[in-house]
Amino acid sequence: MNHAADRPTQTLRVQGLTKHYGSTPVFAGVDFAVQPGEFVAIVGDSGVGKSTLLNCLAGLDTWDSGHILHGSTDLGLLDETQRALWRRTHVGFVFQAFHVLPHLDVAHNVALPLVLLQRPDPERVAQMLAAVGLSDLGARLPAQLSGGQLQRVAIARALVHRPSLLLADEPTGNLDPGTAARTMDVLLAQTREHGAALVLVTHSDAAAARADRVLRLTAQGIA
Ligand SMILES: Nc1ncnc2c1ncn2[C@@H]1O[C@H](COP(=O)(O)OP(=O)(O)OP(=O)(O)O)[C@@H](O)[C@H]1O
Ligand SMILES: [Mg+2]
Repeated sequence: MNHAADRPTQTLRVQGLTKHYGSTPVFAGVDFAVQPGEFVAIVGDSGVGKSTLLNCLAGLDTWDSGHILHGSTDLGLLDETQRALWRRTHVGFVFQAFHVLPHLDVAHNVALPLVLLQRPDPERVAQMLAAVGLSDLGARLPAQLSGGQLQRVAIARALVHRPSLLLADEPTGNLDPGTAARTMDVLLAQTREHGAALVLVTHSDAAAARADRVLRLTAQGIA
């Protein structure tokens, strides 16, 4: 059961975020906020810094100036261990390149966030595998899956622990239109049913069309 009290209350706030690689600016003056239960799509040209921004939101990358706040947590003030613990508890991340563990079968890959939180829950794992249409493939190794199946493993893993902040980098990039639409349904169900905030980077008009808001990232900022 999901009680109202269990619903996330943290707003994600990005304030004046700026990042360079060496002397090359990636983005500057990035300001936006995402409320619990809100779905924000981030679009922009290839190389403009969308994946870099998403990595910053997850505390996986650092920035030069500005702030990222999740509720009352200021990510910039956390050390690496504190960031890892915050991420483990609050964040589900769908990477552009999956990052599925090759030596674990599909079910164990999906179960990993729950195992790390010491909250094993085989029923929840089975529920997530069913939600992404992979119920029959739980015992397969990642090398025995197609690209689109791997992408769905990554999505099930990002959702399994009911994160309050869901960050997804091109999560439907490898999927046919029908599977992409069903995968978006799974991501959106999590956002709507559990009140998670969803930030989705995409080149897909179909995916962006389902967002509450679409933000375009350029070298000048985000709007
Ligand atoms: N480790 C790095 N060192 C230097 N430059 C980098 C590094 N990682 C990324 N970049 C550069 O930073 C810019 C932003 O990269 P990023 O991957 O965030 O773009 P993106 O908007 O996600 O692009 P795409 O739509 O192609 O995925 C690019 O110009 C890229 O070449
Ligand atoms: Mg990218």
